[in-house]
Amino acid sequence: MRVIILGSAAGGGVPQWNCACANCVDARSRGTNRTQSSVALSADGERWILLNASPDLRAQLAAHRELWPCGQRRSPVAALILTDAEIDHTLGLLLLRESATALPVYAPGGVTALLGAEWPLYRVLAAYAGVESRALEDGRPIALTDASGTPLGISCSASALARRPPRYARAAPAATFDVGLRLTDELTGGTLAYVPTAGAADDAVRRVATGADLLLFDGTFWSDHELRTAGVDAPTAREMGHLPVGGPGGSLELLASLGAKRTVLVHLNNTNPLVRIGSPERAWVEAAGIVVGADAMEFEL
Ligand code: MLT
Ligand code: MN
Ligand code: ZN
Repeated sequence: MRVIILGSAAGGGVPQWNCACANCVDARSRGTNRTQSSVALSADGERWILLNASPDLRAQLAAHRELWPCGQRRSPVAALILTDAEIDHTLGLLLLRESATALPVYAPGGVTALLGAEWPLYRVLAAYAGVESRALEDGRPIALTDASGTPLGISCSASALARRPPRYARAAPAATFDVGLRLTDELTGGTLAYVPTAGAADDAVRRVATGADLLLFDGTFWSDHELRTAGVDAPTAREMGHLPVGGPGGSLELLASLGAKRTVLVHLNNTNPLVRIGSPERAWVEAAGIVVGADAMEFEL
């Protein structure tokens, strides 16, 4: 199974359009950009599954030859999986509206409900290619297939994560709004664990991560008060449903015990000192054997 980090940043990207924090200023001057959160994976190298649909999807597809069209209005993108209904993980669906056929989109129930109502992407897309909505049930592994029902050689098991609904739907009835994914190559047994939104390193995360060859884990914030320190009036990392990496009880203390063979941090916010080469925080993470993810990083599992 091949895995490509298409985008390693949280919502807003690096630099963020209206942000003048030290990291965004630095990224503008060096031209070191990070696009918003998404991953591509493939068992056969020809048909690809996208994990989340980033607002930067157009540039991400253009940046990787594997994802270029394989015929007139034909794309190697065979299916998508949404781990949540946040804007940074779903807006890209609108950018695929020119598709010639309905896009197979796997998502947990709470996400599908939001995309038909509060954030009505599915309703809007119905006037274009449309979406073939497929259910991801908690803890039940499924064999992923393309639009024609042909197996993609990868099985997927989703675990519900304890996390609040997105900000635009605070009053939504209780449902699964976030999942972690465990994706297994049915031939090689190579396993990817994908948890870009973790409010805690709890049993659900452990279930997804234990024994995985690669864990792509929530690296959104270094510290709980990071946004306020950067001068932004905002809730804490924990209030936003992201366990910070540093500090007491932070994920850095826990990642080694999750049982994955390799761990890479993704979904990094632009205020996070980990995005800056040479920061002490980055050195601490690297000394713990954990990798700070970047756009276009590739893995073979
Ligand atoms: C999140 O990951 O918590 C959300 O994407 C935050 C947001 O951009 O609204
Ligand atoms: Mn996000
Ligand atoms: Zn910034």
